[in-house]
Amino acid sequence: MDYHIPVMLKESINGLNIKPNGIYVDLTFGGGGHSKFILKKLSSNGSLFAFDVDKDVIKNVEKIKNKSFHFIKSNFRFFRNHLKINGLNKVDGILADLGISSHQINSSQRGFSFKGDKKLDMRMNNDLEFSAVDLLNTYKKDKLVNIFSKYGEIRNSIQLANSILRNRKKKKIKKTIDFIDIIKPFAKKKREEKYYAKVFQAIRIEINDEINSLKDLLLQSKITLNKKGRLVVISYHSLEDRLIKNFINKGNFIGEPEKDFYGNQIKIFKSISKKPIIPSKKEVIKNPRSRSAKLRIGEII
Ligand SMILES: C[S@@+](CC[C@H](N)C(=O)[O-])C[C@H]1O[C@@H](n2cnc3c(N)ncnc32)[C@H](O)[C@@H]1O
Repeated sequence: MDYHIPVMLKESINGLNIKPNGIYVDLTFGGGGHSKFILKKLSSNGSLFAFDVDKDVIKNVEKIKNKSFHFIKSNFRFFRNHLKINGLNKVDGILADLGISSHQINSSQRGFSFKGDKKLDMRMNNDLEFSAVDLLNTYKKDKLVNIFSKYGEIRNSIQLANSILRNRKKKKIKKTIDFIDIIKPFAKKKREEKYYAKVFQAIRIEINDEINSLKDLLLQSKITLNKKGRLVVISYHSLEDRLIKNFINKGNFIGEPEKDFYGNQIKIFKSISKKPIIPSKKEVIKNPRSRSAKLRIGEII
């Protein structure tokens, strides 16, 4: 089974507008699908710095024999510091393909999938202590409601949170199968899997602090990219896409234009496509996991 099928590979690599001698960053290495394609476009004077927080990717890293390639195991929210340690202040392009890989979903012991019967884990970085079991058994009601409605866009999140609180009093929630029993009554008939996916997604986003990591990534990209440098981001969730869109179009997360003393809008990025780029029908048929992907490209002015 493939570790991961890269999404919108051509579109995203074209979006980077690669110069053979340039310096590029792949913030989400995963199976290395995007990295390999970047390396094909680089000369021996170019370089690629790739990041991932999951140690499972090391086996993919080891397969890449190319002197231009450097891997750093870290959360991408610290990428600027790592580049500085490597003597770099500016780069020509940054790519991020957010979320989790197929390998992570398919590895039942990682607890990302609602289909397993393993421990509810969902940590991308196994060195962290706090897992989905801790979240489900310790979070107060308000916090649970908040993550289910904000990150999962779940309408009955109050009832769901109440049920979690009731059930965990009787018995600690530990395994996927037990958790599915708790959430099943709240799912619409015949749409159960969609509901489970949303609940699991919400927990995963919280466990891995994905929204704050994305904000850090965007803020650092603005000061790390050279003039005409490209930021290319693929996201799979409307909350993430909104942040990326606002940041590229308006330079901040709320989407309000920032103005200078004379009232002129301060622009940091030029958006390369007005609308987000989405996968072709052919790609979605071949790789259904690409269906919710949105690609945005910004170029530093
Ligand atoms: C969708 S996959 C990327 C797949 C990759 N583009 C490919 O073609 O194989 C996302 C990867 O990013 C990693 N990741 C997600 N959030 C991260 C973060 N904050 N810091 C570092 N890596 C992260 C995940 O561990 C996962 O391996």
